[in-house]
Formats: sequence, structure tokens, C-alpha cells
Amino acid sequence: MMGSLGDRRPPTTGTRRWILVLAWGVLAIGLTGWVASCTSSGGAKEAAEPSAVWQAPAGANYVGRAACVECHEEDVKNFDHTLHAKKANPRSPAATHECESCHGPGSKHVDDGGSQGTILKFGDKSKASAATQAAQCLTCHTKTHPDWKQGKHAARDVSCVSCHSVHAAEGPKQLKKPTEAETCATCHKQVNSDLAKQSHHPIREGKIGCSDCHNPHGTPYDKNLRTPTNNETCYKCHTEKRGPFLWEHPVVMENCLNCHNPHGSLHDKLLIVQEPFVCQRCHSISRHPGTVYDATTLAHGVNASTRSMGNACLNCHPQFHGSNHPSGNFFER
Ligand code: HEC
Ligand code: HEC
Ligand code: HEC
Ligand code: HEC
Ligand code: HEC
Ligand code: HEC
Ligand code: HEC
Ligand code: HEC
Ligand code: HEC
Ligand code: HEC
Repeated sequence: MMGSLGDRRPPTTGTRRWILVLAWGVLAIGLTGWVASCTSSGGAKEAAEPSAVWQAPAGANYVGRAACVECHEEDVKNFDHTLHAKKANPRSPAATHECESCHGPGSKHVDDGGSQGTILKFGDKSKASAATQAAQCLTCHTKTHPDWKQGKHAARDVSCVSCHSVHAAEGPKQLKKPTEAETCATCHKQVNSDLAKQSHHPIREGKIGCSDCHNPHGTPYDKNLRTPTNNETCYKCHTEKRGPFLWEHPVVMENCLNCHNPHGSLHDKLLIVQEPFVCQRCHSISRHPGTVYDATTLAHGVNASTRSMGNACLNCHPQFHGSNHPSGNFFER
């Protein structure tokens, strides 16, 4: 799945570099075009075309569940406990074409005594593309997943069954693993390791979930976020940070992630770097610069009196997220 990035790279990187050396000026522009066309015509992209609906073999008809179960009793055991097997819901597979609502009409497969390729198989080993597999589920789930096709997962051939298992689910909502975070962790290793750091959003603890902030089914926004901006996502739970404030700190209003990692960090409070450095990335030459003392700034240096003791910015500027302090814009207590 993740490996498909490699598959899409133009195959002859070495040769390309060699040509470039020989004919740098002339070829550079042409090659850029060539690389771009290789990238955009890669197999993975084509497979992601939304039009791809499963084509059952010509003349195949629906045969009904009883025929399937004769040979596939084992595969059905868990399935019968799921919502898909509940006849009471008129929109469920059980109430429509049963097994064949997902696997497609099966008469050819049955007549052949169960041959491959005559019926839709799901998962990584299927010959059908991720998009084709998703399209089959979306015949029913399109209303619940209006943004699927513009999401980051569809774009990278992650299909419904990368996260869900319809027959052998372990977690809620038929997820493949016992929890949502574990399901995501099979691919998102970096995020998963952030969650193990000392300061982290309580996701492993089950207090919030990935899908409080992201929609795995896609959104119109960056990073599959549920809101157009990072800050809107944060304000959903940390409402007091929204303001309005008399004195706004531009860096906070712009993006909470200027200072925080949304998942986890080695530094307290999800900070990407520790205090005072988190402030000094910008305020290195303020009226009381917090940089390390040196020869010119020791007791008799020019700026000596303006250095901040201990660099503990927050001791004096605790309201830096935004403040309504009557006496000015210095984010004081
Ligand atoms: C006569 C026995 C038989 C019947 C009836 C039968 N199957 Fe199969 N089916 C098999 C066998 C055997 C395989 C394994 C083929 C292989 O892996 O070589 C198979 C494979 C499959 C696969 C994987 C297909 C693939 O391309 O690898 C699916 C999905 C499937 N069956 C679903 C169904 C459904 C749904 C029905 C009812 C419409 C059904 N089967 C009826 C015997 C049967
Ligand atoms: C909601 C869609 C859906 C329905 C309904 C459904 N299946 Fe499946 N089936 C799947 C998916 C998805 C997989 C891949 C394994 C998984 O996700 O659990 C699968 C896997 C299978 C396999 C394993 C084939 C292989 O080698 O990959 C068989 C056999 C099968 N289904 C038969 C059936 C039978 C028989 C029924 C009816 C009782 C049925 N399915 C109903 C979606 C469905
Ligand atoms: C014939 C229509 C139909 C098809 C096809 C179908 N589903 Fe469903 N699915 C339903 C219905 C109906 C429910 C019950 C929940 C509801 O009322 O929305 C449901 C529920 C679910 C749930 C939630 C289960 C829970 O425990 O809350 C998941 C996940 C799901 N489907 C995934 C899939 C996947 C993946 C596929 C394709 C492999 C698929 N569905 C194909 C109709 C369908
Ligand atoms: C990247 C992982 C991932 C993929 C891919 C994915 N899902 Fe889900 N899905 C989830 C998670 C996580 C939940 C539970 C969300 C929650 O609890 O709010 C869920 C919930 C659902 C539900 C339950 C209804 C609901 O919204 O609560 C349905 C139905 C469903 N998914 C169907 C699908 C279908 C159909 C596809 C493919 C088009 C798909 N999913 C692809 C992770 C995924
Ligand atoms: C089967 C592997 C797989 C699983 C499981 C999976 N993802 Fe992904 N996810 C991907 C791939 C591949 C991308 C595209 C990454 C890229 O374009 O750099 C992606 C993209 C994303 C993005 C957008 C990242 C970006 O840079 O735009 C988010 C957010 C995300 N996934 C969240 C989740 C969540 C939440 C879950 C669990 C519910 C999950 N994923 C499960 C493979 C997976
Ligand atoms: C508190 C909200 C929140 C939660 C909970 C959350 N994320 Fe994120 N995530 C974000 C934000 C905001 C970004 C955007 C980062 C950026 O713009 O650089 C992001 C980015 C990502 C990315 C893109 C890569 C990256 O690191 O920038 C992936 C993948 C991702 N999240 C997966 C997950 C998974 C998996 C979970 C659950 C284990 C999860 N997220 C939980 C807010 C959250
Ligand atoms: C779904 C709710 C939710 C969202 C959305 C959310 N948070 Fe949180 N956040 C929490 C919870 C719960 C805690 C833990 C509070 C506690 O333990 O008292 C927390 C704690 C924190 C902490 C303090 C961590 C610590 O070690 O004390 C920071 C910093 C933080 N969040 C930043 C953010 C940022 C930045 C965003 C936006 C990317 C965000 N949060 C979005 C729920 C959320
Ligand atoms: C300029 C850097 C910076 C930015 C930008 C920033 N924070 Fe913080 N944040 C911090 C620091 C430093 C702390 C630690 C404060 C402490 O230890 O008292 C903190 C602590 C927090 C805490 C935990 C303590 C508390 O005040 O509740 C939350 C929650 C939080 N930030 C949320 C946010 C949100 C939401 C945003 C965006 C609106 C944001 N932060 C933007 C630097 C920043
Ligand atoms: C990404 C850059 C950036 C970071 C990091 C940053 N600030 Fe600021 N800060 C600004 C900008 C821009 C202003 C507005 C300056 C202006 O209006 O002239 C400002 C204003 C201030 C002011 C008010 C002074 C004034 O003249 O308005 C204080 C006090 C302050 N910041 C403290 C902090 C503290 C404490 C931290 C660390 C928690 C911090 N800043 C982190 C960019 C940053
Ligand atoms: C001992 C208390 C104290 C500490 C510690 C402190 N400040 Fe200040 N800071 C002040 C006061 C008081 C003012 C207002 C000065 C004035 O009224 O002219 C101020 C003003 C500022 C200003 C606005 C004026 C300017 O210089 O542009 C910034 C920015 C600022 N501090 C950043 C920081 C940063 C970053 C740190 C940590 C490295 C820090 N402060 C540590 C007390 C402190």
C-alpha cells in the first residue's frame, strides 16, 4: 500500500542524472516535462479513477446466499453478527442481494465450482483496484461518505478494507483492529510513535480519537481535517483559546502548530521545542533578549540590564495565547 509511492517513481533515475550532466541547459526543461508525465501516468493513479466499477463476467446472475454458504460456511460465521446481515434494515445487503451485494452476481463462480476472478475479491491480493473495491461499498455508503473521492486515502489507493473487515472485524465499526488508533497505526508509524511520547493527546487512553480531528473517509480540507484550518480543529475542544481577545498574539491566531505538535512530543504540553526556545525563535532581539549571556552582555555589557533572568518567559507573560489585560499588550498576568 504505502510502497506504491516507490512504484510511481520514474524507473531510470540514474540514467536521467547522466543525461542531465551531458546536456544540462537544453534538456532540463524537456526532462521536467518527461518526469511530470511519468509521475502522472503511473499505474496507481489510473487505478484511482472513480469510474472503475466491478464488471462481473458476462451473463452472471444472482444466485442467493444459500448457494454460497454451501462452500463458504467458515467465511460466514462472523459475518452473520454484523449489521450487514440484519434483514430488518431494508438497505442492508441481507435485505437486497445478500453476499452478492458486495461480491457481485455469482452464478459463473458457482457453476465453475468456485474459480478465481469470476467474483469480486476484496483486499490487497485482489486483482480489482482499490477504487473498484471502494466503488462497490459506495453503491450503498455514498451518502455517508460524500468526500471519499477527494480524500487523501482514496488518492493513495487505500481502500475501505484497508481499515474495515466486513467478515472478521475486531473493533467497533467493523475496524480491523480492536481500536481506531491501532487500525491507523498499521500505516502511520510516525504518528503512532508520537503518541507514545511523554506529552501526548490522550488518544491511546481512549479519551479522544483520530477521527475527532480527521475524517478517514476524506474531507475537502488539508490533511483530511474536519475543519478548514488547524486552529478551528483545536478550538472545538479548547474553546477558551478562541478568544476574542483584546490583545491577540499573531503567532497563536495564525496556527497553533507553530508551537504544538497535534499528536505528541518529548516536550511538555505538546510543545515542538521547550520554553524559552519556543518563544525565542521569534523574540531573540526583543527589549530583553533571552539569548545566552556573552562577553558584551554580562553585568557591564551594553544590554546587561535588559536580559531576562532564567529565560522563564511564561513567568511574566503567561497570557501569551491571548489576553484582555487592561494595561497593555504584553500578555501579563
Ligand atoms: C462450489 C463451491 C463454491 C460455491 C457455491 C461458491 N464458492 Fe466462492 N470459492 C470457492 C472456492 C473453492 C474458492 C477458492 C478459489 C481459489 O482460491 O482458488 C472460492 C473463492 C471465492 C472468493 C475469492 C475469489 C477470488 O478471485 O479469489 C470469493 C469472494 C467467493 N468465493 C465468494 C463466493 C460467493 C459470494 C458465493 C455465492 C455467490 C460463492 N463464493 C459460491 C468455492 C465456491
Ligand atoms: C458488505 C459487503 C460484503 C458482504 C455482504 C459479504 N462479503 Fe464476503 N467479503 C467482503 C470483504 C470486504 C471481504 C475481504 C475480507 C474482509 O474484509 O473481511 C470478503 C471476503 C470473503 C471471502 C474470502 C474470499 C477471499 O479469498 O478473499 C469469501 C469466501 C466471502 N467473502 C464470501 C461471502 C459470503 C458467502 C457472503 C454472504 C453470506 C459474503 N461474503 C457477504 C465483503 C462482503
Ligand atoms: C447493500 C448495501 C451495502 C453495501 C454494498 C455495503 N454496506 Fe456497509 N452497511 C450497510 C448498511 C445498511 C449498514 C447499517 C448501518 C446503517 O444503517 O447505515 C452498513 C454498515 C456498515 C458499517 C458500520 C458497521 C457498524 O458496526 O456500525 C461499516 C464499517 C460498513 N457498512 C462498511 C462497508 C464496507 C467496507 C462495504 C464494502 C466492502 C460495505 N459496507 C458495503 C449497507 C451496505
Ligand atoms: C483510513 C481508515 C478507513 C478507511 C480507508 C475507511 N474507513 Fe470507514 N471508518 C473508519 C473509522 C475509524 C470509522 C469509525 C469512525 C467513528 O467512530 O466516528 C469508520 C466508520 C465507518 C462506517 C460507520 C458509519 C459511521 O460513519 O460511523 C461506515 C459505514 C464506514 N466506515 C464505511 C466505509 C467505506 C464504505 C469505506 C470505503 C469507501 C471506508 N469506510 C473506508 C476508518 C476507515
Ligand atoms: C493501509 C494504510 C493506511 C491506514 C490503515 C490508514 N492510513 Fe491514513 N494514509 C495512508 C496513506 C498512504 C496516505 C497518503 C499519505 C501521503 O499522501 O503522503 C494517508 C493519509 C492520511 C492523512 C493525510 C496526511 C497528509 O499528509 O495529507 C491522514 C490525516 C490520515 N491518513 C489519517 C488516518 C487515520 C486517522 C487512520 C485510521 C482511522 C488512517 N489514516 C489509516 C495510509 C493509511
Ligand atoms: C487533536 C486533533 C488531532 C488528533 C486527535 C489526531 N490528529 Fe493527526 N493531525 C492533526 C493536525 C492538526 C494535523 C495537521 C498537521 C500539519 O498541518 O502539519 C495532523 C496531521 C496528521 C497526519 C499528516 C502527517 C503529519 O504528521 O503531519 C497524519 C498521517 C495524521 N495526522 C494521522 C493521525 C492519526 C493516525 C491519529 C490518531 C492516532 C491522529 N492523526 C489524531 C490533528 C489531530
Ligand atoms: C477532541 C477534543 C480535542 C481537540 C480537537 C484538541 N484537543 Fe488538545 N486536548 C484534549 C484533551 C482531552 C487534552 C487532555 C486534557 C487533560 O488531560 O486535562 C488535551 C490537551 C492538550 C494540551 C496540553 C497537553 C498537556 O500535556 O497538558 C495541548 C497543548 C493541546 N491539547 C493542544 C491542542 C491543539 C494544538 C489542538 C489542535 C491541533 C488540540 N489540542 C485539539 C482534547 C482535544
Ligand atoms: C507561541 C507558541 C504557542 C502557540 C502558537 C500556541 N501555544 Fe499553546 N502553549 C504554548 C506553551 C509554551 C504552553 C505551556 C504553557 C504552560 O506551561 O503554562 C502552551 C500550553 C497550551 C495548553 C495547555 C495549558 C493551557 O493553557 O490550557 C493548551 C490546551 C494549548 N496550549 C492550546 C493551544 C491552542 C489551541 C493554540 C492555538 C489557538 C495554541 N496553544 C497555540 C505555546 C503556544
Ligand atoms: C512565530 C513567531 C513568534 C513566536 C514563536 C512567539 N511570538 Fe510573541 N509575537 C510575535 C509577533 C509577530 C508579535 C506581534 C509584534 C507586534 O505586534 O509588533 C508578538 C508579540 C508578543 C508580545 C507582545 C509585545 C508586543 O510588542 O506586542 C509578547 C509579550 C510576546 N509576543 C511574547 C511571546 C512569548 C512569551 C512567546 C513564547 C510562548 C512568543 N511570544 C512566541 C511572534 C512570535
Ligand atoms: C521578569 C519578567 C519577564 C520575563 C522573565 C520575560 N519578560 Fe518579556 N517583558 C516583561 C515586561 C514587564 C515587559 C514590558 C516591558 C515594557 O513595558 O516596556 C516585557 C516585554 C516583552 C516583549 C515586548 C517588548 C519587546 O521587547 O519587543 C516581548 C516580545 C517579550 N517581553 C518577550 C519575552 C520573552 C520571549 C521572554 C523569555 C525569553 C520574556 N519576555 C521574559 C517581563 C518579562
